[in-house]
Amino acid sequence: MDRSSPGTLSIRFIDSGQTIPLRSSVLRPGNPVETVYFEGDHNADSFHLGAFPDGPMASRHQAISVASFYPNRHADFKEPTQYQLRGMATDPAYRGMGAGSQLLRFALNHLKEKQVDLLWCNAREYAIPFYRKLGFREMGPLFMIPDVCLHRVMYIPIE
Ligand SMILES: CC(C)(COP(=O)(O)OP(=O)(O)OC[C@H]1O[C@@H](n2cnc3c(N)ncnc32)[C@H](O)[C@@H]1OP(=O)(O)O)[C@@H](O)C(=O)NCCC(=O)NCCS
Repeated sequence: MDRSSPGTLSIRFIDSGQTIPLRSSVLRPGNPVETVYFEGDHNADSFHLGAFPDGPMASRHQAISVASFYPNRHADFKEPTQYQLRGMATDPAYRGMGAGSQLLRFALNHLKEKQVDLLWCNAREYAIPFYRKLGFREMGPLFMIPDVCLHRVMYIPIE
Protein backbone atom coordinates (compact mmCIF):
# COMPACT_ATOMS: atom_id res chain seq x y z
CA MET A 1 0.00 0.00 0.00
CA ASP A 2 1.53 3.33 -0.98
CA ARG A 3 1.46 6.65 0.79
CA SER A 4 -1.42 7.89 -1.33
CA SER A 5 -3.71 5.06 -0.24
CA PRO A 6 -4.34 4.95 3.51
CA GLY A 7 -7.01 2.21 3.27
CA THR A 8 -9.50 2.07 6.14
CA LEU A 9 -9.16 4.61 8.90
CA SER A 10 -9.74 4.71 12.64
CA ILE A 11 -10.94 7.92 14.24
CA ARG A 12 -9.51 8.37 17.75
CA PHE A 13 -9.63 10.90 20.54
CA ILE A 14 -6.20 12.50 20.85
CA ASP A 15 -4.74 15.23 23.03
CA SER A 16 -4.26 18.72 21.68
CA GLY A 17 -0.49 18.22 21.42
CA GLN A 18 -1.04 15.55 18.77
CA THR A 19 -2.90 18.03 16.57
CA ILE A 20 -0.05 20.53 16.52
CA PRO A 21 2.14 19.13 13.67
CA LEU A 22 -0.73 19.13 11.15
CA ARG A 23 -2.29 22.34 12.44
CA SER A 24 1.05 24.06 12.10
CA SER A 25 2.12 22.72 8.69
CA VAL A 26 -1.32 22.96 7.05
CA LEU A 27 -2.99 25.97 8.67
CA ARG A 28 -0.12 28.31 9.62
CA PRO A 29 2.88 27.23 7.51
CA GLY A 30 5.93 29.36 8.18
CA ASN A 31 4.48 30.84 11.37
CA PRO A 32 5.60 30.19 14.95
CA VAL A 33 4.07 27.05 16.41
CA GLU A 34 2.47 29.17 19.16
CA THR A 35 0.04 30.50 16.53
CA VAL A 36 -1.69 27.11 16.55
CA TYR A 37 -2.09 26.84 20.31
CA PHE A 38 -5.79 27.64 20.61
CA GLU A 39 -7.67 28.98 23.61
CA GLY A 40 -9.64 26.14 25.17
CA ASP A 41 -7.28 23.41 23.95
CA HIS A 42 -6.97 22.10 27.51
CA ASN A 43 -10.57 22.71 28.58
CA ALA A 44 -11.96 19.42 29.95
CA ASP A 45 -15.02 19.76 27.69
CA SER A 46 -13.00 20.32 24.54
CA PHE A 47 -12.01 17.29 22.48
CA HIS A 48 -9.62 16.55 19.65
CA LEU A 49 -9.86 13.85 16.97
CA GLY A 50 -7.34 12.26 14.67
CA ALA A 51 -7.74 9.91 11.70
CA PHE A 52 -5.19 7.08 11.63
CA PRO A 53 -4.70 4.44 8.92
CA ASP A 54 -5.51 0.83 9.80
CA GLY A 55 -3.77 -2.17 8.25
CA PRO A 56 -0.14 -2.03 7.08
CA MET A 57 0.20 1.65 8.01
CA ALA A 58 -1.23 1.19 11.52
CA SER A 59 2.15 1.81 13.13
CA ARG A 60 2.03 5.41 11.93
CA HIS A 61 1.92 7.60 15.00
CA GLN A 62 0.92 10.81 13.34
CA ALA A 63 -2.68 11.44 12.33
CA ILE A 64 -3.40 12.10 8.66
CA SER A 65 -6.32 14.39 9.56
CA VAL A 66 -7.13 16.29 12.76
CA ALA A 67 -9.82 18.59 14.14
CA SER A 68 -10.70 20.13 17.50
CA PHE A 69 -14.03 20.92 19.15
CA TYR A 70 -14.67 23.55 21.83
CA PRO A 71 -17.76 24.43 23.85
CA ASN A 72 -18.35 27.97 22.59
CA ARG A 73 -21.56 29.86 21.85
CA HIS A 74 -21.78 32.05 18.77
CA ALA A 75 -23.88 35.13 19.57
CA ASP A 76 -25.87 34.83 16.33
CA PHE A 77 -27.22 31.36 17.10
CA LYS A 78 -29.96 30.76 19.65
CA GLU A 79 -29.25 27.08 20.36
CA PRO A 80 -28.30 26.68 24.04
CA THR A 81 -25.51 24.15 23.60
CA GLN A 82 -23.01 24.93 20.88
CA TYR A 83 -19.54 23.73 19.94
CA GLN A 84 -17.02 25.40 17.67
CA LEU A 85 -14.89 23.39 15.25
CA ARG A 86 -11.32 24.62 14.77
CA GLY A 87 -8.06 23.30 13.38
CA MET A 88 -9.56 21.08 10.64
CA ALA A 89 -6.59 19.88 8.61
CA THR A 90 -5.72 16.88 6.43
CA ASP A 91 -2.17 16.02 5.40
CA PRO A 92 -1.86 17.14 1.75
CA ALA A 93 -0.70 13.64 0.75
CA TYR A 94 -4.05 12.20 1.89
CA ARG A 95 -6.58 14.81 0.74
CA GLY A 96 -9.78 13.90 -1.05
CA MET A 97 -9.78 10.36 0.33
CA GLY A 98 -12.51 10.83 2.89
CA ALA A 99 -10.42 11.31 6.05
CA GLY A 100 -11.77 14.77 6.85
CA SER A 101 -15.39 13.74 6.26
CA GLN A 102 -15.04 10.54 8.27
CA LEU A 103 -13.56 12.49 11.16
CA LEU A 104 -16.34 15.09 11.09
CA ARG A 105 -19.08 12.45 10.93
CA PHE A 106 -17.54 10.80 13.99
CA ALA A 107 -17.55 14.20 15.74
CA LEU A 108 -21.20 14.84 14.85
CA ASN A 109 -22.20 11.46 16.35
CA HIS A 110 -20.22 12.22 19.49
CA LEU A 111 -21.76 15.70 19.80
CA LYS A 112 -25.21 14.15 19.39
CA GLU A 113 -24.48 11.75 22.25
CA LYS A 114 -23.43 14.77 24.33
CA GLN A 115 -26.77 16.40 23.44
CA VAL A 116 -25.10 19.34 21.76
CA ASP A 117 -27.51 21.34 19.59
CA LEU A 118 -25.24 22.98 17.04
CA LEU A 119 -21.70 22.85 15.62
CA TRP A 120 -20.29 25.97 13.93
CA CYS A 121 -16.99 27.10 12.50
CA ASN A 122 -15.25 29.97 10.74
CA ALA A 123 -14.71 28.21 7.41
CA ARG A 124 -11.92 29.28 5.10
CA GLU A 125 -13.44 30.41 1.82
CA TYR A 126 -11.82 27.64 -0.19
CA ALA A 127 -13.01 24.96 2.27
CA ILE A 128 -16.70 26.00 2.08
CA PRO A 129 -17.55 23.27 -0.51
CA PHE A 130 -16.06 20.62 1.82
CA TYR A 131 -18.33 21.69 4.71
CA ARG A 132 -21.36 22.03 2.42
CA LYS A 133 -20.97 18.39 1.38
CA LEU A 134 -21.25 17.41 5.04
CA GLY A 135 -24.48 19.36 5.51
CA PHE A 136 -23.12 22.62 6.93
CA ARG A 137 -24.90 25.82 5.94
CA GLU A 138 -23.47 29.29 5.54
CA MET A 139 -24.39 32.32 7.61
CA GLY A 140 -23.56 35.98 7.03
CA PRO A 141 -20.97 37.57 4.77
CA LEU A 142 -17.37 36.62 4.09
CA PHE A 143 -14.95 38.28 6.52
CA MET A 144 -11.18 38.51 6.70
CA ILE A 145 -9.14 36.95 9.47
CA PRO A 146 -5.94 39.00 9.29
CA ASP A 147 -2.86 37.13 8.05
CA VAL A 148 -5.00 34.11 7.12
CA CYS A 149 -7.74 34.51 4.46
CA LEU A 150 -11.44 35.13 3.86
CA HIS A 151 -13.77 33.12 6.07
CA ARG A 152 -17.48 32.55 6.46
CA VAL A 153 -19.46 31.28 9.44
CA MET A 154 -20.87 27.82 8.74
CA TYR A 155 -23.03 25.68 11.01
CA ILE A 156 -24.85 22.39 11.26
CA PRO A 157 -27.76 21.71 13.60
CA ILE A 158 -27.30 18.38 15.40
CA GLU A 159 -30.53 16.38 15.26
C1 LIG B 1 -10.60 20.95 3.84
C2 LIG B 1 -9.85 19.65 4.20
C3 LIG B 1 -9.74 19.53 5.71
C4 LIG B 1 -10.67 18.47 3.64
O1 LIG B 1 -10.05 17.27 4.11
P1 LIG B 1 -10.09 15.93 3.24
O2 LIG B 1 -9.62 14.82 4.12
O3 LIG B 1 -9.35 16.17 1.98
O4 LIG B 1 -11.64 15.83 2.94
P2 LIG B 1 -12.45 14.62 2.26
O5 LIG B 1 -11.51 13.73 1.52
O6 LIG B 1 -13.28 14.00 3.31
O7 LIG B 1 -13.35 15.44 1.23
C5 LIG B 1 -14.75 15.31 1.22
C6 LIG B 1 -15.28 15.95 -0.04
O8 LIG B 1 -15.01 17.35 -0.03
C7 LIG B 1 -14.24 17.68 -1.18
N1 LIG B 1 -13.31 18.72 -0.80
C8 LIG B 1 -12.35 18.63 0.14
N2 LIG B 1 -11.69 19.79 0.23
C9 LIG B 1 -12.25 20.61 -0.71
C10 LIG B 1 -11.99 21.92 -1.11
N3 LIG B 1 -11.04 22.66 -0.55
N4 LIG B 1 -12.77 22.44 -2.11
C11 LIG B 1 -13.72 21.69 -2.69
N5 LIG B 1 -14.01 20.44 -2.34
C12 LIG B 1 -13.28 19.91 -1.36
C13 LIG B 1 -13.55 16.40 -1.59
O9 LIG B 1 -13.17 16.42 -2.94
C14 LIG B 1 -14.61 15.39 -1.30
O10 LIG B 1 -15.58 15.40 -2.31
P3 LIG B 1 -16.31 14.03 -2.79
O11 LIG B 1 -17.05 13.53 -1.59
O12 LIG B 1 -17.20 14.47 -3.89
O13 LIG B 1 -15.22 13.13 -3.21
C15 LIG B 1 -8.44 19.60 3.54
O14 LIG B 1 -8.58 19.88 2.16
C16 LIG B 1 -7.45 20.58 4.15
O15 LIG B 1 -6.76 20.28 5.12
N6 LIG B 1 -7.38 21.78 3.56
C17 LIG B 1 -6.45 22.82 4.03
C18 LIG B 1 -6.81 23.35 5.41
C19 LIG B 1 -8.24 23.85 5.47
O16 LIG B 1 -8.72 24.56 4.59
N7 LIG B 1 -8.90 23.49 6.56
C20 LIG B 1 -10.23 23.98 6.84
C21 LIG B 1 -10.11 25.24 7.59
S1 LIG B 1 -11.71 25.98 7.88
